[in-house]
Amino acid sequence: MIKGCIFDLDGVIVDTAKYHYLAWKRLANELGFEFTEEDNERLKGVSRMKSLEILLEIGNKQFDEETKIKLAEKKNGWYVEYISKMDESEILDGVKDFLTELREKGIKISLGSVSKNAMTILKNINLLPYFDAVIDGTKVTNAKPDPEVFLKAAQELGLKPEECCVFEDAVAGIEAARRANMKVIGVGSPEILGDADKVISGFKGVTSDILNF
Ligand code: G6P
Ligand code: MG
Repeated sequence: MIKGCIFDLDGVIVDTAKYHYLAWKRLANELGFEFTEEDNERLKGVSRMKSLEILLEIGNKQFDEETKIKLAEKKNGWYVEYISKMDESEILDGVKDFLTELREKGIKISLGSVSKNAMTILKNINLLPYFDAVIDGTKVTNAKPDPEVFLKAAQELGLKPEECCVFEDAVAGIEAARRANMKVIGVGSPEILGDADKVISGFKGVTSDILNF
């Protein structure tokens, strides 16, 4: 029986994936190459530095460590600017109703994101009170597909991995949930998220019945 739900943030609760994409694209263009939405799929759920590595590989560019850190900081500066304007209106359809129902049913809720900006976003969109635990990029050393972020979330909720269900929009996140021995529901398209136990297009109309496996 599922006793806890662990939510990824970017692309699940809010569509920040579009802001990450805009900021990475801006960096790629500044470095003189194109970066498409298809390329961007590879960056979802992946840490900031690893994302930069993938981006530079796409553009066939090499830089030393110091420059790479500066480039990642530049991207993050743009990203932070985009998310600073976020408010409750950016919470994806159905998310609040679903979280409310989970709380009513006594199902524990945690965030499981490798973003270092997760807390800022949760505060900006006023969703922090819904969470029993928040595991973000400041609390983990290994990014998805490593299961660390989800295992830490389960631990903080006081639950066993098999009692948890993860909601994820990224291929790397689905793999991380599998490696954590948790159920996983993909949020997005079945073509991309085929390895999940179930796939939903979003939370509109979704009830806790979805947790019956
Ligand atoms: C999430 C996103 C990734 C992002 C990562 C790090 O997993 O899906 O696209 O690169 O967080 O985010 P940060 O806000 O720390 O740069
Ligand atoms: Mg995501």
